[in-house]
Amino acid sequence: MLIEPAAPPTTLAPYVPPYPPRPDRGLPLRQMLQVARENWLAIWAKSSFERDVYGSRLLLRDVVVCNSPDSVHYVFVERHENFQRKSPQHRHALIPLLGDGLFVSDGPLWRERRRVVAPVTHVSRLAELAPAITEAAAERQAQWRALPPGPVDVLAEMGHLTAEIICRTIFGRALGRDAAGEVVAAFAEYQALIGQTDLLSLLGLPDWFPRYRSPGVRQAARRIHHVVDGLIAGILDGQDAGEASLIRAMSEAKVPGTDRPMDRRAFRNEAIVLFMAGHETTANTLAWALFILSQDPTNAARLVEEVRGALGDRVATLADLPNLPFTRAVVEETLRLYPPVPLLSREALGPDRIGDRPVRRGTIILVSPWLLHRKPGLWDQPDAFIPDRFLPGAPKPPRHAYIPFSTGPRICTGMHLGLAEATICLAALAGHFRLELAPGTQVMPVARLTLRPGETLPMRITPLG
Ligand code: HEM
Repeated sequence: MLIEPAAPPTTLAPYVPPYPPRPDRGLPLRQMLQVARENWLAIWAKSSFERDVYGSRLLLRDVVVCNSPDSVHYVFVERHENFQRKSPQHRHALIPLLGDGLFVSDGPLWRERRRVVAPVTHVSRLAELAPAITEAAAERQAQWRALPPGPVDVLAEMGHLTAEIICRTIFGRALGRDAAGEVVAAFAEYQALIGQTDLLSLLGLPDWFPRYRSPGVRQAARRIHHVVDGLIAGILDGQDAGEASLIRAMSEAKVPGTDRPMDRRAFRNEAIVLFMAGHETTANTLAWALFILSQDPTNAARLVEEVRGALGDRVATLADLPNLPFTRAVVEETLRLYPPVPLLSREALGPDRIGDRPVRRGTIILVSPWLLHRKPGLWDQPDAFIPDRFLPGAPKPPRHAYIPFSTGPRICTGMHLGLAEATICLAALAGHFRLELAPGTQVMPVARLTLRPGETLPMRITPLG
């Protein structure tokens, strides 16, 4: 086995991965809306990263940006009850697909669903779910060893890998393996049809105002519903041979305060939430990490050394994770620089006050991990890739300064699953292959519903031997 020599950490300046240029001053409204349509990340001026709480009136809506740990704590934890509702543009983009699913609901329904869904994705269930991750990562590793020469779209590769994993996790290993292709195709169609921003809602139209939606959106949603309904029926009718899966776990849980399980429509909506929330987020994290390592040979070699030392040629299992602290630190630093959900938006249900700023009912509250994770003063060299900040023993970032999974009662239920998945897959791929960006490729972060390295990421993949 040939192990790449690991260069010791040097005192050279750390690698700074790409980000859109920051205008010196805020853009005029018309230009801002235009830029936001293309890439919402490019609207932020330098000062937007530095300020704590600021706001403006965007046509008919008040918008307040909370960009300090204290204000994030206030809206997401202390005043969760008043700021728990997702913003109208979030809800209108996702309701045709998710129905009343946990991700877009609030109030008593959200509480009820959260009490069913959170325990099934809880850290205590990782041991049951992780074998599906190891298995899919090993399969992808074998496929990469057999690749023909020439660049491969690593963003699409990571999309397929994490779709495989989430399908096997939700529906069980056997059913999930067969269904992944169909589920992914149906989702891709939906995402292509739905716009990034529901401008009507931003402009302040009330929820009841009829919005135009291309008939394709409903058709694509129906196609997903059909595929998922079929899989759920298969599991509830026992075709899964009792395998561990999130659907099986949900079917064994009772609706809080009753002794009945959720109905089938709720199963479907929550299964779709889990697929949507757990698929592209992890795919983007992996694609970004592979890209960054391709530009940062020192840290790439440190990762190879750790993986080969801890695992040899094996693919990691859950039990190996404590022996992969550097690989995990690369994942966490990647999530800081490129948080897959770069914007968390809420609507104020009643009047409030954030710091000394009065907030009216209906105000849109924006918390952006993209801004907060690069805020000078919270982070040393905020735009630089320094995985060491997340190594055990390094000083911890201030509470609520690092929120790739959000925080408070609506925190991501799949956080531990996502971190374990990203670490196992990154070790399996970056630990055994050299990835080089195809010549002439420009990489720039673009915010759609999630933050991606553009539309494709062509890279040449060579086994390390
Ligand atoms: C790197 C991977 C992931 C990241 C960065 C991530 C991030 C997030 C974020 C930021 C939210 C909150 C969104 C908001 O408040 O607007 C969220 C919610 C959620 N995530 Fe994740 N997620 C990841 C993986 C997963 C996985 C693997 C699952 C499940 C299998 C999952 C399930 C959920 C669910 C159910 C919610 C909704 C929680 C609620 O509204 O109460 N996520 N995620």
